[in-house]
Amino acid sequence: MRGAGHHCLILLLLSSAFLSVAALEEDVTDTLFDNLLEPLRDPQKAIRAAQVRFSLRRPSDPSDDVCYVVTGRPDSLSSCNFNATSKTFLVIHGWTVTGLFESWVGKLVAALYKREPSANVIVVDWLSSAQNHYTVAAQNTKVVGENVAHFISWMQNTTGLSLENLHLIGYSLGAHVAGFAGSHLSNKVGRITGLDPAGPVFEGAHAHRRLSPDDAQFVDVLHTFTRGSLGLSIGIQQPVGHVDIYPNGGSFQPGCNFRGALEKIANFGIFAISDAVKCEHERSVHLFIDSLLNKQESSRAYSCGSSEMFDRGICLSCRKNRCNTVGYGISKIRKAHSAKMFTKTGASMPFRVYHYQLKIHFLSAVNHSELQPTLTVSLFGTTGSAEHLQLNIKEKISTNRTSSFLLVTQKDIGELLMIKFKWEDSSSWSSSSLLKALSTWWSDDSAPSADMQVHRIRAKVGETQKKVVFCLKTPNSPSLAEEVTFVKCKDHWKSPSKRSGEKKH
Ligand SMILES: *[C@@H]1O[C@H](CO)[C@@H](O)[C@H](O)[C@H]1NC(C)=O
Ligand SMILES: *[C@@H]1O[C@H](CO)[C@@H](O)[C@H](O)[C@H]1NC(C)=O
Ligand SMILES: *[C@@H]1O[C@H](CO)[C@@H](O)[C@H](O)[C@H]1NC(C)=O
Ligand SMILES: *[C@@H]1O[C@H](CO)[C@@H](O)[C@H](O)[C@H]1NC(C)=O
Repeated sequence: MRGAGHHCLILLLLSSAFLSVAALEEDVTDTLFDNLLEPLRDPQKAIRAAQVRFSLRRPSDPSDDVCYVVTGRPDSLSSCNFNATSKTFLVIHGWTVTGLFESWVGKLVAALYKREPSANVIVVDWLSSAQNHYTVAAQNTKVVGENVAHFISWMQNTTGLSLENLHLIGYSLGAHVAGFAGSHLSNKVGRITGLDPAGPVFEGAHAHRRLSPDDAQFVDVLHTFTRGSLGLSIGIQQPVGHVDIYPNGGSFQPGCNFRGALEKIANFGIFAISDAVKCEHERSVHLFIDSLLNKQESSRAYSCGSSEMFDRGICLSCRKNRCNTVGYGISKIRKAHSAKMFTKTGASMPFRVYHYQLKIHFLSAVNHSELQPTLTVSLFGTTGSAEHLQLNIKEKISTNRTSSFLLVTQKDIGELLMIKFKWEDSSSWSSSSLLKALSTWWSDDSAPSADMQVHRIRAKVGETQKKVVFCLKTPNSPSLAEEVTFVKCKDHWKSPSKRSGEKKH
């Protein structure tokens, strides 16, 4: 029964985005609302004494529990080699179906020791309270958090450790455990990192009943699975920290092959579903591990009003703390209003990509509007190239207007030197509207590529904050039907002085 509830919850949340499983959604909707969101009939059941254990893991043995620190027993600290002057990490897992640690726990512990060799990495084991009906497990986060707070308070009294040196890292429901722990301490811990904090039960809840910026001196959050409907998603959608980063918009993580997983579900039934969910939900953990292991290749995230705006490349600014480092090396910036930050990632570690904004002004004597061509770009830099990248067209292209695009490369191509650009009319274009097709016919041009021109491309690189203007290599290139080459403009006499002023930033 408990297992079925779990699968139903996940199914509903996933299926809302996919019509292919819409039929299943109907079947599970009632079950979900019965089982998940209805208040518990017996609240006392949830507040049964939580069994919480604190395993101080060893760098040589990051996946095994060999030594437990026990509240009230100071000798357990010394026998586990607790170092009171070092940083202390508390790793807090989430909901569990199996009652076992997932494999990411050992990987995260190993990565923390690699980055901070003298640290104490303690794994908070609340598996027995987390292996439950989701609603029960979610309600248990409060009492488990109180338990963790009591442990921290005891350690502080016993060893004199500084709360500043304490960093709680919680995944899914574990993020809310960390929040409750932080809010029950009389002084704030240094940092809480929420790795895709759980959404159901917590979305829209009062700040006291979920992870919030009040719970630590600094709270940072990675959101990787915020796809859903009616405010219901596996990961919480709303910002809950000082800095909230939504990699890939907080949904559809590259390499997770969500559709492939859905096909598997169609073939093998709902028990194949946990793999599909886990990949995107757990991506938050692997992005954090990446940031610990690949210090030199940290990803950068940028403040933006929306994921859609970010996808048009218009948010790559670092002025006034608008950008930050993803993961462990984040700058502890506390703004009055929590702003969403966005980044793109690759499909595997290291996840870092380079973000480029391309601003392209399309000129034509013919009045075209609402075009959706296929635009292909190749970038050539001092240390490499990234070729045949398709531009993601987020707003339709029209004559005599500037369009902005976001382009990412996983490869470091060095300083950008040359851009090749190609326009291909999409076949659906001519059939999309009879009127448009007619007007094109009357205008004596079969395709927009024949008369559309681009004279300059303005590029901005998020990672270096450099702006460069590219001009046609051979002036008077007749049409975009063939690949056109742009090189750095030799002089800037064409650019308004205001633009060259901006370049200094
Ligand atoms: C404790 O950690 C500090 C660094 O944080 C280090 O200098 C010291 O040697 C460590 N003590 C022991 C006993 O390992
Ligand atoms: C730690 O010390 C404070 C102040 O003396 C006290 O209020 C608190 O209960 C102690 N915590 C534990 C777990 O003993
Ligand atoms: C677009 O701008 C160019 C140059 O400013 C002009 O010659 C052309 O007529 C304009 N096209 C349209 C459709 O207005
Ligand atoms: C071009 O077409 C759009 C709508 O298709 C129209 O709003 C606009 O005024 C036209 N511009 C010119 C210069 O004809």
